[in-house]
Amino acid sequence: MPTFKLDGKSIPFEPGESIIRAAEKAGVEIPHYCYHPGLSAPANCRMCLVEILPAANQRAMMLDIVEWDEKLGDYRTIKKPKLQPACQFPATDGQEVLAEQSPHVIAARAGVQEFLLLNHPVDCPICDQAGECKLQDYWLEHQQTPKRMHDEPVHKPKAVSFGDTIVYDAERCVMCTRCIRFMEEVAKDPVLDMRERGNLKEVIVAPGRKLEGHYTFMTEHVCPVGALTTKDFRFKARVWFLKSAKTVCQGCATGCNATFDYDPRTNKALRYRPRDNERVNKFWMCDEGMLSYRDVVEGRVPEAQVSGKTVKIERALEEIKKRFASVQKGSIAFVLSAKHSLEDNLALFELAELCGSRAIYTSGAPAGYSDDILIHADKNSNTAGIQNLAPDAKSFDALLADARAGKVTHVIALGGAAPTDDVSALEGLQGLCVVAAHVGPLTRAASVVLPASAWIEASGTFVNAKGMRQLAEKGTEPLGSAEPGWKLVAKVAVHLGVEPSWTTLKDVRAMLVATSVPPPEPSQTASAE
Ligand code: SF4
Ligand code: SF4
Ligand code: FES
Repeated sequence: MPTFKLDGKSIPFEPGESIIRAAEKAGVEIPHYCYHPGLSAPANCRMCLVEILPAANQRAMMLDIVEWDEKLGDYRTIKKPKLQPACQFPATDGQEVLAEQSPHVIAARAGVQEFLLLNHPVDCPICDQAGECKLQDYWLEHQQTPKRMHDEPVHKPKAVSFGDTIVYDAERCVMCTRCIRFMEEVAKDPVLDMRERGNLKEVIVAPGRKLEGHYTFMTEHVCPVGALTTKDFRFKARVWFLKSAKTVCQGCATGCNATFDYDPRTNKALRYRPRDNERVNKFWMCDEGMLSYRDVVEGRVPEAQVSGKTVKIERALEEIKKRFASVQKGSIAFVLSAKHSLEDNLALFELAELCGSRAIYTSGAPAGYSDDILIHADKNSNTAGIQNLAPDAKSFDALLADARAGKVTHVIALGGAAPTDDVSALEGLQGLCVVAAHVGPLTRAASVVLPASAWIEASGTFVNAKGMRQLAEKGTEPLGSAEPGWKLVAKVAVHLGVEPSWTTLKDVRAMLVATSVPPPEPSQTASAE
């Protein structure tokens, strides 16, 4: 692999890669506002300027600039090397680049920072971006000088609603055009643009339009400062109080990598942010996915139920014992869920084996909207996982048909979701026990419901549509009496009179190794804020 030197450090690069991208991949940050690895590079902020040393036998390109001379009491003309934007300048083999070691670069960064802050309102105390704002971070790293301009700054529009999801503050905008480029290049809807010049410049929405569609939240995420904020997260939290968990979006079979932010003091879920994974979601997530953090509390099954009435888990387990006592264990049907983790599904699959049952069916949410950017028509996060686990499992339609024909009388199912709302065929069953995190047609038809943890309340494994096995970390504590699904399935096993072979997550994961589910993917993450 070719390499170049950045401040003396050898940086490998793929041919065609820019200096900033190669450095970023090697873990060296060159400060930037307008550069984003998933977007084109207009090189308009000038924060990433670096000094490129001339090749042997070549002269450096020099520029005339004026500099204040204290002794002279006047400006004088001097020559300085022409700095280059690292975001647009391609890396070449053997090239020598100076960033931290060039006094010209250090002065340029401080100058760009001062220029960007000339008219900035510095309303950090009420800005949602405070704590994760590039202007704050770079002021501290590259400027640190107090404000020299004493004139009233130029005032521009504040709290402009761009649509149902996003609010714009023109005074905080550094005109990096990331939001504009995202809508044009990724969302393929060039609804944002700029107007005016110089310090009157501002981002606008096309006349007669509003910022809408499936990817509006990404404009806020790519904004390096607090100019774009989401109506969903605005004024809800100070980010330094939040904790994060690396998780996988459950919205569809794409399995976008996400960071889940929550307040550990209140156990409150607050937002999703995309986590970069070039092989799955690149740097993006869709709006529906970004808002699905709310499913931690919305539509949940927080307590056990028997015939629709809330009861303690022990009481529900006794009811299962009663309802399933008269039936041959081998004739109980088991339903895996494409919306639950592999751990939960494997526990249920093992229970079916222990009972000697071959009646395995699958369930999950119905198909929906898709596009060619990220969104998959399959609205389940683990379809490939349960297909690998039980390739011979029968469909949900087959379950309904077998229930109607009286071939299935007792069912233990995972997950409330079903591909159809009409599950009336299951209502006449002698026993329908559902272990679920969320309500759905199956929980509504069930005689006994056990409350399972949601994906973010227990560490779990999911296999996406590309067959990539991904791990979702635990974040918030379980809601109500919820427990991990695999743990509840073990309790059901005991009440059915069989001995489960797993009691801990480690046991379940050890069993996973022996299945045909593909091994975990090596991490593909690349950093981009
Ligand atoms: S709103 Fe944010 S992303 Fe858009 S141009 Fe301004 S600073 Fe850049
Ligand atoms: S595309 Fe699918 S997985 Fe990705 S954020 Fe949207 S719903 Fe979630
Ligand atoms: S990041 Fe290179 S000019 Fe903006």
